[in-house]
Order: sequence, then C-alpha cells, then structure tokens
Amino acid sequence: TWTTAAFVEEAIREIRARVGDKRVLLALSGGVDSSTLAFLLHRAIGDQLTCMFIDQGFMRKLEPERLVKLFAEQFHISVEYVNARDRFINSVKGITDPEEKRKRIGHEFISVFESESKRLGPFDYLAQGTLYPDVIESADTNVDPQTGERVAVKIKSHHNVGGLPKDLRFKLVEPLRKLFKDEVRKVGRSIGLPEEIVNRQPFPGPGLAIRILGEVTSERLNILRDADLIVRQEINRAGLYHDLWQAFAVLLPIRSVGVMGDQRTYAYPIVLRFVASEDGMTADWARVPYDLLETISNRIVNEVRGVNRVVYDITSKPPGTIEWE
Ligand code: XMP
Repeated sequence: TWTTAAFVEEAIREIRARVGDKRVLLALSGGVDSSTLAFLLHRAIGDQLTCMFIDQGFMRKLEPERLVKLFAEQFHISVEYVNARDRFINSVKGITDPEEKRKRIGHEFISVFESESKRLGPFDYLAQGTLYPDVIESADTNVDPQTGERVAVKIKSHHNVGGLPKDLRFKLVEPLRKLFKDEVRKVGRSIGLPEEIVNRQPFPGPGLAIRILGEVTSERLNILRDADLIVRQEINRAGLYHDLWQAFAVLLPIRSVGVMGDQRTYAYPIVLRFVASEDGMTADWARVPYDLLETISNRIVNEVRGVNRVVYDITSKPPGTIEWE
C-alpha cells in the first residue's frame, strides 16, 4: 500500500541516485507541487539545491514574503528571492490584449530565469513538479523532440509560452511524476506544509496581471491586491475557501459614478468571481449567502481607495470562462 512516509523515503533515495553530487535548481511558485518538491530535494541533497523565487509582482498580498519566511523558519531552506517587479510591470506596459499579456509575462519569466540561473549557477539539473497527468498527457512539453529524452524544454508554471533557450535545457529531476494531485497534497501535509499551501485554490501563472482587465499599472495592482485580500479573509471567515474552486476579485479598467458621504465619486468597479467546479473545465457561479456578499462589498468600498462599486458575476462556464482574461 502507498504511504506518504514510504513515498518520501523512496523519493529521497531516487533523487540522490539521479543527482549524485551535482547541483539542482528549483523555481518555487508558492503552490503545493513546487513546495513539496523543495522539501524532498532539500532532505535528499541539502546545499546542492538552490531554490529560487521570482517575484513578478503579480502575486497576492503578502504571499511572497510569507513563502520566503515559511521556508526559512519551518524548513530551514533559504530561498533566493528575485525581485523582478519592475521588469514585469514594464514588460506589460501599454498592453491590453490578454494573450499578448500572457506572452510577454511568459517571455519575461524565461528571461529572468535565464539570467538568474546563470548568476546562481551553473546547474546540471532542474527540478520540476511534473505530476502523473502531465507525463501521460499526449503533448508532453518536456520531451526533447530530437532525442526523446526528458529535459527541461518548458517551465511548468509558464507552459503556454515558448521554450527555454537551448543552453538552458537542464536535465530534469521529477520526483512527483508518479503522483496525482491528491497524493501530492497528502505528502505535502505529511511534511508539515500549511493548509494554505496544501489546499490553495488554483492561481494562474501570470497572476493578478490577468485579473486587471486592460493595462496593468501599479496603482491598479495595489487596488486589486487590497480587494483580493478582503475577499480571501471573508471567504475564509465564512468557511467557504475549500468548498469553492476559486474565489477572487477582478478589476475593470472603467470608472463609474458613486456617492460617499456627500461626495460624488468616480472610481473602478471590482467584480467578484466565485465558482464551484470539479476540474476547472466547467464551472458554476457559486450561490453564496447574500450577507457574505454584503460584507465583502461594504469592506471593499469602504477600505479600498479607488473602488466605489462591487458586482457579482453570475455567469457559469461555459459560456463564461473562470478568469476574465
Ligand atoms: P478559464 O479562465 O480558462 O480558467 O476558465 C480555467 C482554469 O485555468 C486557470 N488559468 C490559468 N492558469 N495560466 C495558468 O497557470 C494561465 O494563463 C491561466 N489562465 C487560466 C484558471 O485560474 C482556472 O483555474
């Protein structure tokens, strides 16, 4: 029978056998896969592992800081924190098309990844949180088309952009490749990852940048980060975080008229997107209590400057997508 303890032992043996005394690079994303991976590799090879976290500036409020702190305090793994916020926001300056945004963010990621891995390297191996469904997927992105070997052709969190440059095609270490997501969660929990990582709702690679419709600016990012934090707090307080597939805020790049005190306001609307789903392929808009919606709406309008209206998205998927971009 499969147990997490047996898996961890076996994975550590396998990593040591594959890597020997070579150096391994791992790009942390903040999700359960890369976090579990980091733990296993650190246990297996200690200082031969370098964990890098590229902060695109599109994560949720306090998440980058929390991640670095968690790794330092709980796992004694020091993370190479790369502050690339300016680079990323510049890369999408003036861009309003959703696919173009994704493309530029993806390219910027590869470019930062390239320079940082050279600065911290050289590395022989790249650790990726490939899971079993990724391996059996017919269009496996990490097989070298020429040799058929498993090498790092694409970065998992940015699989929708072009590949890594040829000189960065590290050999892969993929200790999670036989696991399904629920098994990774079990392993993650058994090694002491907090529930907020183990059961994190899906969060897109380009992050908040695709939840700001139209141009991404730092003003809009700050507004959305604050609104998003209120959503998370209230969803948690209501005990709904794990019942919903995703619950998040979207900022629309338009302004509408409102009134506060005896002042006329002219500010952004925030959309609440709460959905129930099994796999993200189809989704139902979530029937959450009106009182919860009221609390969230009041808090956002009162606490987040620049927002004067909150609307609830009642579109299921299909025909709507879960994200707005
Ligand atoms: P849609 O919006 O297509 O989303 O209904 C389905 C699921 O995919 C996530 N999503 C993304 N994840 N990069 C990602 O890593 C992306 O560009 C991206 N776009 C959508 C979305 O959050 C939902 O869970």
